[in-house]
Formats: sequence, structure tokens, C-alpha cells
Amino acid sequence: MAINVAIMGFGTVGSGVAETLDINKEIIAKRVGEEINVKYILDIRDFPDSRFAGLVTHNADEVFDSDILIAVETIGGVRIAYEYTKRALSLGISVVTSNKELVSTHGPELIKIAQENNCCYLFEAAVGGGIPIIRPLYKCLAANKITKIAGIVNGTTNYILSQMKDEGIDFDTALKQAQDNGFAEANPSADIDGIDAQRKISILSTIANDGAYIAPDKISAEGISAITTDDMEFAASVGCDIKLIALYEAGEDLPIVYVAPALVDKSNLLYNVNGVFNAIMVDGNSLGQAMFYGQGAGTLPTASAVCGDVIEAALGNPPEARAWTDESVDITPYDEIKADIVIRADVPAKVIDAAEGLECEVLSDEAILVKGIKHKDIDALVSKAEAKSWMHYLK
Ligand code: HSE
Repeated sequence: MAINVAIMGFGTVGSGVAETLDINKEIIAKRVGEEINVKYILDIRDFPDSRFAGLVTHNADEVFDSDILIAVETIGGVRIAYEYTKRALSLGISVVTSNKELVSTHGPELIKIAQENNCCYLFEAAVGGGIPIIRPLYKCLAANKITKIAGIVNGTTNYILSQMKDEGIDFDTALKQAQDNGFAEANPSADIDGIDAQRKISILSTIANDGAYIAPDKISAEGISAITTDDMEFAASVGCDIKLIALYEAGEDLPIVYVAPALVDKSNLLYNVNGVFNAIMVDGNSLGQAMFYGQGAGTLPTASAVCGDVIEAALGNPPEARAWTDESVDITPYDEIKADIVIRADVPAKVIDAAEGLECEVLSDEAILVKGIKHKDIDALVSKAEAKSWMHYLK
């Protein structure tokens, strides 16, 4: 007996899944107790040069009418992927995916369909690529109230920012390099505008928030395209580096969630996360702090997480099957969120005067850390202090 699997979408991740299930066939069979057999690869394309070419079909009916128990959805997007995922789950076929857009947009509905049909919808690979983070949040950290998550969850932007810092090049040149090296997509908008990070923090926040769904479109997201070489030099002058940070805090009343570039202090472990690597810091009220670090993208690292979920589904363990609320819950309006920021100004005293009672710390002769200022008050402070610019700050 073998457990039959279909891979839907044979791109970067799907091909890595076929590869991983093949090269580790024996150890996986030992761990599952049965062989995992890729029966079909469903794609609109042919792959004549692939050693898996014989498994390719263009006929979805052939796949769904077969005896597969698990479907790997590595199509991406929310159109065909959504349709096929619903179809599979409705038939009681477990679905395993790396598709953060689909999970963050339709997670509540898809998890519910999986539950109703006694199968799994698993998405470890949707955040942090190969880094274990979804299952640790659901299982290993289940005894904690998760108070904070601060993550570098987009490899493309982290690579671009690292190149800007290391090579002293501007954003456009670094983006071009990232595209030439295959790290950034031809249309990099979802990455550089913070949309990919917004989807990922939506998933992490919903889990941390006990399944109270936080939809991506509720989350403020700012990207990195406005970061200049001057900003990078300024960051270095105050012992910081600039990173795109996806943030969740439990908050006193409503959760706080947003994505924004931030000055990350040298003392913070995220400071040392460079290139395409991702890292997610999690604070729990019992745990203290833990950092999950590794390769957040790429064929085999992402396939590693997908295949881990295939094994989980094969073993019949649906750890992520807890319900998400149908509707998105409210989060703290961005304007009302209190943030720590660094203001860049020629006359620090003017910032301190204008900050009127807020805690301030002078970091250099042109940098003042202002703590706990509401976003809605920042523009007025910058203008009153005749400051040049401001940025979030993470110690
Ligand atoms: N575009 C994503 C990134 C891929 O750069 O991190 C992995 O989700």
C-alpha cells in the first residue's frame, strides 16, 4: 500500500516537492509507515526534460476522480488554486500548501471545509519557507499567550536591503541585481511593497490571536522602495540596520499589526539576519523569547516544509485544523498605534521640545529616539521640530 499524492503546480516549489519526496523516499516511508507516492503532477505545462515528465497531466478531473489522499497546492494565487483547494477538501482530500495569498485570504473558509470533510488543510510553508513556525505556534507554544511577533518574513526585500548596505548601491540597482540573480520576481511589487509580508503576518497574527482572523487588508503595509542610500548610512551611524519588519502585538485592547521598514538596533537578533534569510522572533508569556531563523524561500527549503506537512497529513494529524473566525476581527487602527521612532533632525533639542512629555533619547547629533508616539501625531511632531525624516525603531 502507498499513499497517493498529486502535486498541483510544478513550478519552483512543486518541483522541489517531487524532488524531496523522491530523494528521501525511504526515510519518509519509514516515518509514515507507508510509501508516499506522487501519482500525478497537475499543470497546464509539459515538462519534457523533467524525470517526472511521465506523471504530468493537464486533466484535473483525472486527479480528483483518482485515489489520491493528499494534494499539494503549489500553484499560487487565489483563482485556480482556490478552486482546486476547495474541490479537493470537499472530496476529503487533504491539501498542503505554500500559498500564503490563498491561506491569508480564504483561510477561514478552507479550514472549515477541511474540518467538515475530516481532512487537513496545512500550510507550514506559507510563512518563512523552510523555517518551522506555524506548527511551533500551534503546538510547542500552545501553553503561551503570544504577546509579540516581529519577523523578517520576505527574503527578496531583505536581500535588497542587505545589498544596499553592503555595496552602498541604491534601491533600483539592488532590485535589478536581485532580479538578475533570480531572487526577485520580474514583477516584484508584492515583495517590495510589503504585500507578501502583510499576507504572512496576517497568518501568524491569526494563529497568535487564537484563530480570530486578521485579514491582510486590515493590516497597514509599507514597503521599501523609498529607502535611500542616505537612509542606510544614517542607520549605520546610529548602530542600526534597516529591515522590513512584520509586527504583531497582542495589545491591551485590540491587536497591533503592521508591516513597515524599521531601524533595527545592533542589540536585536534580527540585526544579523541578512540576504535572503528570514527570521521570526516570538515572545510568549511563559516562553520569554525565541527566534526561528532559516531560509525563507527557495525550491528545496520550501519543499522541506511542504513535505513535512504531507507527512503530517499522511499520519492523519491535523494540527492546524482549529477554526478561524469567518469574519476578520478588528485590530488597533494604525493611527492609534503607539510606536517607537527615530527622528532625524538638525537640532535634536527642537524634537525634544516638540515631543512634549514623550520619552526621548538622543542617539546622535541628528537622531532622537521618541518612544510611544501615536502614528497620527508623528507628522505634526516632524513638522514642528523641522525634522528631516522618521522611521520605526526596534531595539
Ligand atoms: N517572494 C517571497 C520572498 C517568496 O521573497 O520571501 C517566499 O514566500
